[in-house]
Amino acid sequence: MSKFMDWVDARFPATKMWEDHLSKYYAPKNFNFFYFFGSLALLVLVNQIVTGVWLTMSYTPSAEEAFASVEYIMRDVEYGSILRLLHSTGASAFFIVVYLHMFRGLLYGSYQKPRELVWVFGMLIYLALMAEAFMGYLLPWGQMSYWGAQVIISLFGAIPVIGNDLTQWIRGDYLISGITLNRFFALHVVALPIVILGLVVLHILALHEVGSNNPDGVDIKKHKDENGIPLDGIAFHPYYTVKDIVGVVVFLFIFCFIVFFFPEMGGYFLEKPNFEQANPFKTPEHIAPVWYFTPFYAILRAIPDKLMGVIAMGASIALLFVLPWLDRSPVKSMRYKGWMSKIWLVVFCISFVILGILGVLAPTPERTLLSQVCTFLYFAYFILMPFYTRLEKTKPVPERVTG
Ligand code: HEM
Repeated sequence: MSKFMDWVDARFPATKMWEDHLSKYYAPKNFNFFYFFGSLALLVLVNQIVTGVWLTMSYTPSAEEAFASVEYIMRDVEYGSILRLLHSTGASAFFIVVYLHMFRGLLYGSYQKPRELVWVFGMLIYLALMAEAFMGYLLPWGQMSYWGAQVIISLFGAIPVIGNDLTQWIRGDYLISGITLNRFFALHVVALPIVILGLVVLHILALHEVGSNNPDGVDIKKHKDENGIPLDGIAFHPYYTVKDIVGVVVFLFIFCFIVFFFPEMGGYFLEKPNFEQANPFKTPEHIAPVWYFTPFYAILRAIPDKLMGVIAMGASIALLFVLPWLDRSPVKSMRYKGWMSKIWLVVFCISFVILGILGVLAPTPERTLLSQVCTFLYFAYFILMPFYTRLEKTKPVPERVTG
């Protein structure tokens, strides 16, 4: 075996990569619960790719046959229903895991110097993931697939001058049709997965270049032993590979429970109107995107003017990209930040959740008002950040991690 590895290593840096990224990658020893979600995101990504490839073997991307081919997968293809439900539940699980992963970044200031690029690559993954989920949702060709896509694509029509041409270019037709379905299929199955995989590689390379942050936000490279190993660091493999397996097992228990017993999740993971075939002549009574898009959808609806709504929705995501430059705090972790940062993070999270709930519900004047208040607070978190992070009194950060 060692002779074989010598042969490989003389031609390909296998051992070097193993050491650089696993057995000699020293991660802070104080990782907690929130550090499970990076490896879980990788697990869900693999699940989506594997089940997606198998679904593609039996799915037909045409307006005439798509809906029936999904029914065929659910009823006749061997293990088809499990494959499909692993994929549809996986989509929601992906966003749950990624939202918790992003929240960890906010909590411990993981986006701050020198991890700005880790964050920016993460945000690009998030954008690509949203596009991937949106396009995948058209494929079953159900009522919500059709009308959800109709609503979102028509948003581009609000852009002055080029709006109408742009929507037509995206659809490839005067209305959403088999042509739109075909191109979304190509993008969902080939183009975007490649982009996401590439971005995940960049995300992890950028992280391993600077090293992981930790719940204390302490730089572990400051204190090293005589061999140059951080005193507060432990080898990723075997210590964190073993710890991550615990997270994987717990996650799979919950995930499989949902897949086997509640795959529709009360209409949130699989929406009820999508059990009916797409019908361009029948608009569903209430159109709402899948839950993971609803906070942004609520921001869109909070603003009465369509163009301004689209701009606000774009800005709500754009602001996340520039977060590393908005936070001027001398400390990273929420543990040592002042009370203003803590309160604003809580306000931001509550607003995001309320917006998510409002985005699912049909609008009423009271709900619109509430969504306006939450939209205001969402933006205030970012816009005021350069001020409150500079003004507030921070606590002293310890030299070493606190266990
Ligand atoms: C497919 C989606 C993603 C995958 C597979 C992924 C994977 C990972 C992995 C394996 C790690 C190292 C382990 C850990 O710290 O948990 C990590 C760290 C990190 N990720 Fe992601 N990630 C994804 C999406 C995102 C997104 C959307 C963001 C934010 C916009 C993000 C921001 C970060 C940050 C800031 C770190 C460093 C955390 C620290 O050192 O404290 N990631 N990611």
